[in-house]
Amino acid sequence: MANVVVVGSQWGDEGKGKIVDWLSERADVVVRFQGGHNAGHTLVVDGKVYKLSLLPSGVVREGKLSVIGNGVVFDPHAFVAEVSKLKEQGVSVTPDRLKIAENTSLILSLHRELDGFREDAASNSGTKIGTTRRGIGPAYEDKVGRRAIRVMDLADLETLPLKVDRMLTHHNAVRRGLGHPEVEHSAIMTELTSVADEILPYMDRVWKILDDKRRAGERILFEGAQGTLLDIDHGTYPFVTSSNTVAGQAAPGSGVGPGAIGYVLGITKAYTTRVGEGPFPTEQDNEVGEFLGTRGREFGTVTGRKRRCGWFDAVLVRQAVAVNGINGIALTKLDVLDGLDEIKVCTGYTLDGELIDYLPASQGAQARVEPIYESLEGWKGTTAGARSWNDLPAQAVKYVRYIEELIGAPVALLSTSPERDDTILVTDPFQD
Ligand code: IMP
Repeated sequence: MANVVVVGSQWGDEGKGKIVDWLSERADVVVRFQGGHNAGHTLVVDGKVYKLSLLPSGVVREGKLSVIGNGVVFDPHAFVAEVSKLKEQGVSVTPDRLKIAENTSLILSLHRELDGFREDAASNSGTKIGTTRRGIGPAYEDKVGRRAIRVMDLADLETLPLKVDRMLTHHNAVRRGLGHPEVEHSAIMTELTSVADEILPYMDRVWKILDDKRRAGERILFEGAQGTLLDIDHGTYPFVTSSNTVAGQAAPGSGVGPGAIGYVLGITKAYTTRVGEGPFPTEQDNEVGEFLGTRGREFGTVTGRKRRCGWFDAVLVRQAVAVNGINGIALTKLDVLDGLDEIKVCTGYTLDGELIDYLPASQGAQARVEPIYESLEGWKGTTAGARSWNDLPAQAVKYVRYIEELIGAPVALLSTSPERDDTILVTDPFQD
C-alpha cells in the first residue's frame, strides 16, 4: 500500500491545498507533519472557498480522519478560531474526526510577540526574514531548546507551572535584552488554562493511531506545508521557515518509520513565486511579474502579502526532486500562462562567470547567481478547466514535457483551475 507525501517543490504556495483535497478522496487519513498556521491552503469545493492554515486539508471531506502530528507547532488560539470558522461554513470538526498528537509543541502569545519584535528590529538593519509573524521560529527554538509547553502539559496542572517557569526564565531574559517588558507567570498560566478544555478532547497518541491504520491497510496522505526552498536545511537559509519541509520529515513529524512513505508527490507551479525576503534568481520585477501575479491571484492566504513572481526555475525544482525523492509532480496553474507569446524557463545558472546546474548553498552565492533562460513559444488556446490531455493546446503539452525532461520527474497530476474537478490524472500516486 503506497502512502503518499505531498510537498511543495518551490517556495510554497504551489497549490498544495487543492491537490491534497483532491487526493484525500483516495485516502483514509490526512496528516500534517510540520509548520503551523503560517501555512495557507485554499480549497474550492463546488464554488465554496475554504481557507485553512493549521488544520489538515482533509478536514473538509466527510469520513476522513485528520491528524496534526508532533512535527507541527500548534497555536491553540488559531486552532479554536479555525475550527469555529469551519463550523460556520458547515464543516463539522469533532474529536472523532481530528486528532492532535499529545507531544506537539505549542505556540503562545510570547512566541508571536518575539517573532514581531525581531522582525521589527531587523527592518532597521536590513536583516529581516519577512516571516508571517505567527511565532513559528520562536516556538521551534523552544522545542529544540527543551523548554516548550506541549499539548499533553495542558492535562498536567501539577507540572505545568514548572514548565512555564523554565520557559519564562529564557524568554524574560531575551525580552529584557530587546528592551521589552517581562511576561508574568500568571499570564501564561491563564493563557494555557483558558484553552485547555477546547484542545484536550482532540489530544491522542498519534503514532499509535497511525501504526494501527497502517497495519489495517488504510491509506495515509501526509500533507506538507511551505516548500522545499523554505526548508531549514535545504532552503535559501536564513530566508526559510524553521522546520524541515522536505518529504523525509513526514516520518519523525508524525511518528511513523521511513518505510511507511511510498510515493512523494512534489507540487510544482508552472512558474515561480515567493513571499518574504531572500534570493529569487528568476524573479521578474517588471510587467511579466505583474502579469503573473494578477492572472495568478498571487496574494498570500495567511498574510495577504503580494507574492514575488518569476519564470519557472528548473534548477530549483530539479534540486527539490533530489532532496525530497520526488516520484512525480502535480503541475499547477498552467492556465496562468495561457495567451503569453513567449514563455521563459531557467535551465541553469552562471555564478561568477562559471556555468552551474544547482543552487549554491551560501547566501552570498545565492544572491549572485544569474539565470540562463530557454525561450519557448506560448500557446493561443486555453488550458483553464481542461480535464484531459486532448483538451490542451499542443504547445502547452510541449511546455509540460520540457519541464518533465529538465527536472527529471514525470507529471502525475495536472491541475487546470482551483476547482477540485479540474484535474487531469496521469498516474495515481496511491497505486501500489
Ligand atoms: P515563518 O514560517 O513565519 O517563520 O516565515 C519564514 C519564511 O517562510 C518567510 O519568507 C515566509 O513568507 C515564508 N512562509 C511561511 N509559510 C509560508 C507559506 O505557507 N507559503 C509561502 N511562504 C511561507
